[in-house]
Amino acid sequence: MTAQTATSTTAPVSDSATDPCTIVIFGASGDLTARKLMPALYNLALDGRLPPGLAVVGYSRTKWSNDVFREEARSNVEKHSRRPIDPEVWDSFASGLFYSYGGYDDPEGHDRLNEKLREVEAERGIGGNRLYYLAVPPTTFVDIIEQLGRARSQGAATEGWSRVIIEKPFGVDLASARELNRAVHSVFSEDDVYRIDHYLGKETVQNIIVFRFANGIMEPIWNRRYVDHVQITVSESLGVGHRGNYYDGSGALRDMIQNHIMQLLSLIAMEPPLAIDGRSVRDEKVKVLNAVRLFDDDEVAIETVRGQYGPGWVAGEEAPAYRAEAGVPDASQTETFTALRLFVDSWRWAGVPFYLRTGKRLPKRSTEIAITFKTAPKLLFHDFIDEPHLEPNVLSIRIQPNEGISLKFLTKVPGSPRLRPATMDFLYGASFVKQAPSAYETLIVDALQGDATLFTRSDEVEAAWTIMERVLDGWRSSPPLDFPNYEAGTWGPAAADELIEKDGRKWREL
Ligand SMILES: NC(=O)c1ccc[n+]([C@@H]2O[C@H](COP(=O)([O-])OP(=O)(O)OC[C@H]3O[C@@H](n4cnc5c(N)ncnc54)[C@H](OP(=O)(O)O)[C@@H]3O)[C@@H](O)[C@H]2O)c1
Repeated sequence: MTAQTATSTTAPVSDSATDPCTIVIFGASGDLTARKLMPALYNLALDGRLPPGLAVVGYSRTKWSNDVFREEARSNVEKHSRRPIDPEVWDSFASGLFYSYGGYDDPEGHDRLNEKLREVEAERGIGGNRLYYLAVPPTTFVDIIEQLGRARSQGAATEGWSRVIIEKPFGVDLASARELNRAVHSVFSEDDVYRIDHYLGKETVQNIIVFRFANGIMEPIWNRRYVDHVQITVSESLGVGHRGNYYDGSGALRDMIQNHIMQLLSLIAMEPPLAIDGRSVRDEKVKVLNAVRLFDDDEVAIETVRGQYGPGWVAGEEAPAYRAEAGVPDASQTETFTALRLFVDSWRWAGVPFYLRTGKRLPKRSTEIAITFKTAPKLLFHDFIDEPHLEPNVLSIRIQPNEGISLKFLTKVPGSPRLRPATMDFLYGASFVKQAPSAYETLIVDALQGDATLFTRSDEVEAAWTIMERVLDGWRSSPPLDFPNYEAGTWGPAAADELIEKDGRKWREL
């Protein structure tokens, strides 16, 4: 988003980031830096969207030189960039890459880094604006924050602004999220904290606000009077890959629902914000999360479903059971599938169920929000349909892939009085020629500009964990006895179908 944030510490907002600054990447030898951050930064350089003279200083324990960091960056950009390397742009971009090594909790390493930063800033005439990016495992977040605080208390702080981008996961439960917020706030003010949920950087997710509030026909029907129910699906066909060890300590609820799906839900359910800025949008999203009805002890078993995949076939390929994946214990109780029925107890949504589901090793990769409207009365069409009700209109917002929006409606079959559903389709690929920037490109520019609209605020994270906490508590008190309970390549356990079918509804076929 490029609108100005009310809570930002800096003013300039335009399509390119204008304040000269240094980006310090902790975890510069890692996977995220290689596959997402370097390609995003390079693509921003290609589009001239980086501040003049920008320096990127990588930091991790691996002992690299500036040259090795530049070579690694080049080979990763060649592999993962959405556009090929332009040698001239690359040379200029690479001349701004620097590296310093050390431990995340090691004062000596951080002192060396600060020395390097001062040198680079002086050499490039950048001034002291710094964006710290924590692209490291969450176990090291607090160590780094403490070292940044130590440097500041020893007078190593600069004149300019200091902001910090923190990767997900932000905590593993409510207590750890609060603890992390406390540690972060002891060094940074909330206005300077940018918690990433990369879903918010996706064009299709940003478009939810535009679609809802820039089109006069949507808002009047976007409520309990017209909406029957909402479904949000994030399905993945892949398994855990090489992340088995990490994933087993997390599971589908923490990995997908607490962050990405709750963000989608709050954008769909929120009231119109006063402005498109960090404070107004996030105020409205928090209200939605605070309005989600919390499960009591008995409800968790009724309103939630967990699953874990056994062996099967996905897209014609044999897939092992979750418990047979690398890094996963033989008797793992971690869920790879979750479905929930939630209610948002607000005036707008009272009584409208929100069905959420996510899973790994499902038949296809798809993220979709579907809003099903109440049906028209059948009385005029009794003779022309076989079903007891007319089919409902469904508005589906495809976040990925086949990004677009479709509206299903009933039409008359030519030459016959019978009715059949048809769709009106909007496809990004057909309407816009220009390739969309990656989520990381969008989010990095926003953080450079001090626009926090697309980042999650501390109260938002804690509100989402408060909802999850009830589920986690309920699940802890009754461990799953039937894992694995769905075959890889199917749409999850039978209980997920029962969750929605007991209400006379069905999951969408994607
Ligand atoms: N990779 C992705 O696609 C992705 C997507 C979304 C979110 N994230 C989040 O982004 C962050 C970084 O992810 P990543 O995949 O880049 O992680 P990673 O490759 O496992 O780790 C990044 C770097 O941190 C250091 N490191 C690894 N394990 C460590 C440990 N136990 N203790 C201390 N340092 C350690 C390593 O550098 P040195 O050994 O050189 O210090 C490593 O190169 C995580 O919070 C992750 O959840 C990643």
